[in-house]
This record gives sequence, C-alpha cells and structure tokens, in this order.
Amino acid sequence: MAEVLKVDVITLFPQMLAGFLGESMMKRASEAGLVEFRLINPRDFTTDKHNTTDDRPFGGGPGMLMKPEPLFAAVESVHTPQSHVILMTPSGKTFEQADARRLSIVHSHLIFICGHYEGVDERVREALVDEEISIGDYVLTNGVLSAVVIIDAVARLRPGVLGGGEIATEDESFSSGLLEHPQYTRPPEFRGMKVPEILFSGDHGKIAQWRHDQAVQRTMERRIDLLENERENSKNNP
Ligand SMILES: C[S@@+](CC[C@H](N)C(=O)[O-])C[C@H]1O[C@@H](n2cnc3c(N)ncnc32)[C@H](O)[C@@H]1O
Repeated sequence: MAEVLKVDVITLFPQMLAGFLGESMMKRASEAGLVEFRLINPRDFTTDKHNTTDDRPFGGGPGMLMKPEPLFAAVESVHTPQSHVILMTPSGKTFEQADARRLSIVHSHLIFICGHYEGVDERVREALVDEEISIGDYVLTNGVLSAVVIIDAVARLRPGVLGGGEIATEDESFSSGLLEHPQYTRPPEFRGMKVPEILFSGDHGKIAQWRHDQAVQRTMERRIDLLENERENSKNNP
C-alpha cells in the first residue's frame, strides 16, 4: 500500500477548495486513501470577538495584511517534524514540473499557506515557511487557486493516484525536457484530417522515433528555452 500524502491547506476560503477536492482525480485519490486533505481556516484560531485575521501594514500603504497570530496558530495545530510548509506568493520560485516531482517524492506532509489581501506578515515567512512558490508572473486575489495548481500537479504523481489509461507521466510535456508529441485516437479520419500512417504500422521502434522527432520539432517551434536548458544541464552533468 502506497504511503498516504497528507495535505493541509490554510485558507480563509475553504469552500473554494471543496469543489476541486470533491471531483475527479482528487476525489478518487482521497477515497482510495492515497491523499488526505484537511482545510484549515485561520479565522478559527482568532481570539478577539470580531475574528480578525487582517490589519493595516506598519509604515502605511494600501491594503491589509494577514496577521501573524492566527496563521501561526493554524500552522502549529497541524505541524509535525515531517511537515513541509509552502507559502503561496508571487515572490516565490516559479513552479515547474521538476518541483511537482520533487514534492511528490520527498515529502509525506505538505502544508500550504494561502495569502489574501496584500499578503502575509513577514514573520510568517521568516519563522514558519520552508519554501515559497509562485505559479507565474501575475497576481491572483488569494492563494487558493495557486495552491490547487500545486496540489493537482503533485498528487497525480503519487504512486497509485493515476490508474488505468492515465499512467504515462514520463512521456508528458516537461518530464523529459520536451513538450509532448501529437496524440490521436479514433476515428482514423475526421473531417478529412487523417491520423499519420506510421501510427498504424505496429512498428514500435519507428513509432517511438516518430514521436520523439515530433516532440523535438514542437519544442523547437514553441519552447526553444527548454531545449537550451536541457543542453546546458547535460553540459554541466555529462
Ligand atoms: C493579492 S495577492 C498579494 C500580492 C502581494 N501584495 C504582492 O505584490 O506580491 C494575495 C495572495 O494571493 C496569492 N497569490 C497571488 N498571486 C500568486 C501567484 N502568482 N502565485 C502564488 N500565489 C499567489 C498569495 O498567497 C498572496 O498572498
């Protein structure tokens, strides 16, 4: 039996996650006991009568920041020596498939802190966080969507989560430094567009070569930077 991946998401908007976690692959993974999700609302850890989770930034400036006390209490309520705490922030390292693979292999307990308003008090970052991740160079209103992106990309790489016809993660875009080759299913001809003959040949060697050539061509056309990185990596690690 594969080890369960525990995922705690600390957010002011747990309901935003409920739909995502209750459908498709994530639902199946949690029903199969492969991933265990908990949603934690920092508001439940406030001690004042207004359940305050935000306040104005010292030094002035627009907007509000998430206060440290509820976030510390929320994280500490689930933290163990095995936990890996991830802060979702546009200032973090941009997430890539290699990060998804690393997080899926190395850790058994991920805690995501989802910011809101203008973000979180810097002391959260300093004292609680192991890693800061951004999902791209744009700003969302809160961290739930970005945490969902990471959770999906990581969970599907855990053993047993993808079953049946969905296990080919090594061939996917980014896994081998290339974008994926074109794929076809039935019918063999649709509105005059034909599936390439080679795919009916039954010659697995030739098909593999065709797919590789197509992947290289597609990567050169669309993402030459991936090929350049790959070249650089193999120069540094011959
Ligand atoms: C409005 S944003 C705060 C932006 C912050 N003032 C800044 O300039 O970096 C609120 C929260 O959304 C999340 N967020 C927004 N964009 C994100 C991104 N590209 N990647 C990861 N998290 C993001 C973070 O958790 C952030 O604390």
